Amino acid sequence: MDATDARDRLDTLAAGFMEAKVLLTGAELHLFDHLTGAGATAAGVAQTIGATVRGVEILLDALVALEVIDKLGDRYRNRPAYAPLLVGDGDGQFAALLRHRAHCFRGWAHLEEKIRGEADRDDDRSVIRDPATNRSFIRAMAAVSGAHAAALVDHLDLDGVHTVGDLGGGPGSYLLAMVARQPEIEPYLIDLPLTLVTTRALLAEAAAGQAIHTVAWDFYHDPEVPTALPPFDLLFLSQVVHAESSARNADLFARLAPLLTPGGRLVVHETTLEPDHTRPREATLFAVNMVAMTDSGRVYTAGEIAAWGEAAGLVCARWDHLGPRSCLITLRRPKATR
Ligand SMILES: C[S@@+](CC[C@H](N)C(=O)[O-])C[C@H]1O[C@@H](n2cnc3c(N)ncnc32)[C@H](O)[C@@H]1O
Repeated sequence: MDATDARDRLDTLAAGFMEAKVLLTGAELHLFDHLTGAGATAAGVAQTIGATVRGVEILLDALVALEVIDKLGDRYRNRPAYAPLLVGDGDGQFAALLRHRAHCFRGWAHLEEKIRGEADRDDDRSVIRDPATNRSFIRAMAAVSGAHAAALVDHLDLDGVHTVGDLGGGPGSYLLAMVARQPEIEPYLIDLPLTLVTTRALLAEAAAGQAIHTVAWDFYHDPEVPTALPPFDLLFLSQVVHAESSARNADLFARLAPLLTPGGRLVVHETTLEPDHTRPREATLFAVNMVAMTDSGRVYTAGEIAAWGEAAGLVCARWDHLGPRSCLITLRRPKATR
């Protein structure tokens, strides 16, 4: 690579935030809701949303350049391919994911302070503490996991499984997919009381949602296991451990192991890094997201996650890399020995 190519590549990387912020601002301002049908002019949109014509016009032109929307004369219109993803704000819709990313963008703006250890931001964990941010976070998770849940559950062995606990189950996408595959299972969704408000609203809209027991438990901070929980043949923990430290996760796994029936499994679904921590690229960026958004979270290797289970007396049966943000680590409680 010559010096010009090197300079151009670094500049492209450095300017990458601009394209992201144009899309996120469009979503935050609900611009796309006003560009349906025959579309609208910048002045019309600006008046409807109470914004400046200059700002709206420049942002819409950039969205045209990014090929997200079209411009015909002075009217802007959604592109058919993107309209279903960008218009509307229902539960589990893609727009919720964009709004969650906009929330992360605000956290990333303080990344230098976080890395220096100087940041003391009240909203670091607002995704689990603030009602409005939590609701939008869980709806964003519904958009992410809802799209992949059935395919992921196909990788789980549900033979002989009666009781299933989804720890930090959030929107319930995976439990719903498990119930669809094996209706006779007894499903429990375990999460924080605040999250369960949105969980219950989402489950109420799904026919199979009625079958799912919801149990409030702050499993990182409250050592008391809720009495409502039975012994589990399968405990599922999806995209939760990255938000907490290694010590906290090891402690959690030690408390989860006794909740399994002999021969029962703890299956962890996570974004994982290769042992040198520099691959895959998506996981390294998600690890930076954890620096920006949490105090002690990070992305772990499958081996590091397995080690917490092994320290708790579980046996790592296998791990399967399904994609750059998706690894299934299966830990089994040994059957009782004489
Ligand atoms: C990133 S979301 C993952 C949701 C879901 N498992 C999925 O994969 O789509 C993390 C979930 O963990 C829950 N959670 C975080 N800390 C928790 C805690 N201390 N106790 C119980 N649940 C917790 C959050 O409320 C949220 O539902």
